[in-house]
Amino acid sequence: MSERLALMAGNWKMNLTAGRAAELAESVGRGSPDSGVEVMVAPPFTALSAVAEAVRELPIKLGAQNLYPAKEGAFTGEISGAMLRDLGVVYVILGHSERRHIMGESDDFIRDKVAAAQESGLIPVLCCGEKLEEREAGQTMEVIETQLEQGLKDISVPAPRDLVVAYEPVWAIGTGKTATPEIAQEVHGKIRDWLAGRYNKDLAKGVRILYGGSVKGSNVKALMAETDIDGALVGGASLSAEAFLPIVNYRL
Ligand code: PGA
Repeated sequence: MSERLALMAGNWKMNLTAGRAAELAESVGRGSPDSGVEVMVAPPFTALSAVAEAVRELPIKLGAQNLYPAKEGAFTGEISGAMLRDLGVVYVILGHSERRHIMGESDDFIRDKVAAAQESGLIPVLCCGEKLEEREAGQTMEVIETQLEQGLKDISVPAPRDLVVAYEPVWAIGTGKTATPEIAQEVHGKIRDWLAGRYNKDLAKGVRILYGGSVKGSNVKALMAETDIDGALVGGASLSAEAFLPIVNYRL
């Protein structure tokens, strides 16, 4: 971490009804006054409205877990970027490994979502990460660079604030196995180098790269001590204030 403002993001996945989500968002907001980091929660679509209301006066940004890359039309069951913006959503998580591997989303489709997010004024949080067998075969960077190259194909990023990248090794998500800070830093450093080559050094220096995969209160400090780790994308440990607040308040 350097001069970049840390971002601690809770990905609530398919959990919490609207009322419970609003309560949790409020507890997180009240428990993290002036923690010196930016805090984001990404509830399921059905809870966005209630959470937006609950955090209106609190220092919490709203995130969404997905969008569909079209402005409007006959796409039953889908949600557009404009609909999310309308609810006060600021960030949108795209290319999460669960969407890649359970829903079968391709890099091309994710790329279209990144473009749609930008067009709607949302900041994409583009996720990348290798599976265990890919790591064991020495293909980690190859996999990540392909995901980034294709996910950002023809996408311009005017300022560092306009993109967040999340490195989430698939083998560490929901498994309790965190990448060691050294393993994560190695990949984060390479992602930053890749961004410098693809865009430019200044942009790469300012883009936040989050780590995700079994982040908890007990390991967040060591992760955040690494130069290129600028925050966390947290699943399981973001589902209660007791577990999430120590992450959000890791500096206090
Ligand atoms: P986890 O999930 O913290 O439960 O491992 C992280 C994520 O999927 O974003």
